[in-house]
Amino acid sequence: MKAISIGLLGLGTVGSGVVQIIKNHQDKLMHQVGCPVEIKKILVNDLHKTRSAEINTQVLTNNPDDILQDPEIDVVIEVMGGVEETKKYLQSALQSGKHVVTANKDLMALHGSELLKLASENGCDLFYEASVAGGIPILRGLVDGLASDRITQLMGIVNGTTNFILTKMSSEGLAYEDVLKEAQELGFAEADPTSDVEGLDAARKMTILATLGFSMHIDLEDVKVSGITQITEEDLRYGKQMGYTMKLIGNAHREGEKVEVSVQPTFLSNNHPLASVQNEYNAVYVYGEAVGETMFYGPGAGSLPTATAVVSDLVGVIKNLRLGVNGRSAVAPQYPKRLKDDSEKYSKYFLRIHVQDEVGVFAEITSIFAKYGVSFEKILQMPVTKNETAEIVLVTHQASLTDIEDILVELKDLSAVKEVKSSYKVVRK
Ligand code: NAP
Ligand code: HSE
Repeated sequence: MKAISIGLLGLGTVGSGVVQIIKNHQDKLMHQVGCPVEIKKILVNDLHKTRSAEINTQVLTNNPDDILQDPEIDVVIEVMGGVEETKKYLQSALQSGKHVVTANKDLMALHGSELLKLASENGCDLFYEASVAGGIPILRGLVDGLASDRITQLMGIVNGTTNFILTKMSSEGLAYEDVLKEAQELGFAEADPTSDVEGLDAARKMTILATLGFSMHIDLEDVKVSGITQITEEDLRYGKQMGYTMKLIGNAHREGEKVEVSVQPTFLSNNHPLASVQNEYNAVYVYGEAVGETMFYGPGAGSLPTATAVVSDLVGVIKNLRLGVNGRSAVAPQYPKRLKDDSEKYSKYFLRIHVQDEVGVFAEITSIFAKYGVSFEKILQMPVTKNETAEIVLVTHQASLTDIEDILVELKDLSAVKEVKSSYKVVRK
């Protein structure tokens, strides 16, 4: 049986894992797809770099056409990252009838629908399981495993770097900068970790998840994003005292025909299934109307976990090749996009406020909340700290985003309020 010929774009963390899995699992692959799988060419930047992957250096090239223009290459695996140049390579591959597997969430979040359309027009598969939550088969879980259900909520810890940082800050009391450095050394963080810590990496993944889960095209700019850089040890300590764990949560919620998608630091009650997801691990909690609660958990990054998802996609491509059905599995979104207004987005909120420690201040604050019909679930008033300042920590009952934003503006205008130190969403099980 003729071997399936692969062109690999990139031989870094994920590319090296792909080489290793294809080599070490050749028997299993052969059993699954009925033919050998061989990597014919690998595109890299630097031909002279020392490589950890066991490869014949003859297969390395720095000319993309050696892969894109080679008629013998059946499948292009893209694990080089980047957006504009990479998009051109993948367009060229698809136009030449090559199937594509990619791990690139940046590209798929921005140009996924355009590339999927091009793939289907050319009778090609374009699979991207590794782009969300690394080794966790969440995309197949949504489009195959839960295909019959109507999904109403996807809540995810989909960035390993920030989960690692928050876990270490919370459990070991370490400072943010020290833990970020450790995450970079361990290889979870992006080369420029800004997109991790500012929430953009998670937002890209939530764009992909929400589009598939709700069968509605969601754009990256539809996702309300905030990252973890402002979180302080005090916030984590008060949260702990109140029975909460802080996580960077991607939340996609559908009510009726409208959806909201956000990524933001969130206090979860300790009994929430996502609260116990530690370190660099990822998890996606999915609620379907028929199935109820499910949760997908595992390594969201790393060489072999991510490569597992890539090579499993490759198996899918080859199985489709044998059946002659490539390019037919992608389903276009069923519903037009309908986003909730801020006045329709409800949550509980944790607020930490520094105020003048004097008579009547508390009444002034509560009267603002009363004006908007927002009541409290918990309130803590801390002993005076310094400079005649008292600290009030409160958790509201459900409030709309519009109301909470207006309340924050009014609080900041009160002369007795020195500073609103923090505000976070709260989610209880
Ligand atoms: P990486 O370690 O930085 O490797 C990138 C590879 O691509 C390197 O081999 C590099 O060549 C090559 N490359 C980059 N730009 C190139 C260009 N313009 N021309 C030719 N070769 C180029 O990246 P990675 O961590 O493996 O990530 C790859 C992709 O997988 C990204 O889209 C990333 O978001 C995604 N992903 C990564 C993980 C993870 O755990 N790392 C998890 C999920 C998804 P040289 O080796 O010569 O520099
Ligand atoms: N930087 C990403 C993370 C890698 O920390 O989750 C996987 O996409």
